[in-house]
Amino acid sequence: MSAVPTYETVKIERDGATTFCILNRPEKRNAMSPQLHLDMCEALDWAAEDDETRVVVVTGAGGHFCAGQDLKLFFRANENDPKAFRKTSIASQAWRWDKLSRHPKPTIAMVHGYCFGGGFTPVIACDFAIAADDATFGLSEVNWGIIPGGLVAWAVTQIMNYRDAIYYSVTGERFSGKEAAAMKFVNKSVPVAELRDAVMSLARNLEAKNPLTVQFTKEAIRSVRGFNEDQALDYLDAKINALKHVDPDKGGDKAMKQFLDEKSFKPGLGEYKRT
Ligand code: ACO
Repeated sequence: MSAVPTYETVKIERDGATTFCILNRPEKRNAMSPQLHLDMCEALDWAAEDDETRVVVVTGAGGHFCAGQDLKLFFRANENDPKAFRKTSIASQAWRWDKLSRHPKPTIAMVHGYCFGGGFTPVIACDFAIAADDATFGLSEVNWGIIPGGLVAWAVTQIMNYRDAIYYSVTGERFSGKEAAAMKFVNKSVPVAELRDAVMSLARNLEAKNPLTVQFTKEAIRSVRGFNEDQALDYLDAKINALKHVDPDKGGDKAMKQFLDEKSFKPGLGEYKRT
């Protein structure tokens, strides 16, 4: 395994082919400072290119996910410096949405402890989210007199049903990991002691699959949401051919041979043997 990069506010750890990008300001409940935004931009770019990384997990150090934007360093420090605020906002937006939601590797948000405000965006941008039963989620913006900006309001409506989105945004009421799982804001919740195992079980499943197929599938699912039927048909045809073009196993050809000719595996029950 090659060495991982180090950052001031983000810790990188490997567990097999899974890479953890850990928000690392535990003394501030991982509130997002300008430096953390810059570090996460670099960390996600690095993980995208790292050949040993098959799966990316985003989580927080010290038993909490993220206490939202750092009110002191993100907002107050830049109150009179719109240029600096704009630069930081771009980095904040870049990693929490653009880089995560378009990451070439499958991404899992592992949520424990607190997750507030701007901390919702990376949870939603990840392909998967698993929470501790007792995690605490809150759209707390309303509690201090602002609206869920920085795409939070838009992001919650991508994943929550409309009633829940309005309810939790306007009331600021907190909800637990268990409640988040019930409303499908996260895929599932487990007791906190089992959180890492649950995340790693999903990660190992993803690690074992053809990485190009995983990447193309997540890109397809993300893209077709905005398409009509004709657009989706055309796009998916083109995408299937694009996968055949780049995949050494020719997008299913090798697996089909193993099933039909060699009778060596059953696609309904598990993986084919990759090149
Ligand atoms: N911005 C800046 N500092 C923060 C933040 C934050 N968002 N959250 C926590 N901290 C700091 C605290 O000021 C404190 O610093 P100090 O030790 O120097 O005094 C330290 O982190 C620990 O926080 P406590 O409040 O002492 O910890 P506690 O566990 O009691 O409470 C909690 C944690 C509930 C997260 C509380 O700190 C809090 O309400 N934070 C703000 C949450 C929030 O609403 N975030 C903004 C959402 S809106 C947005 O992101 C745009």
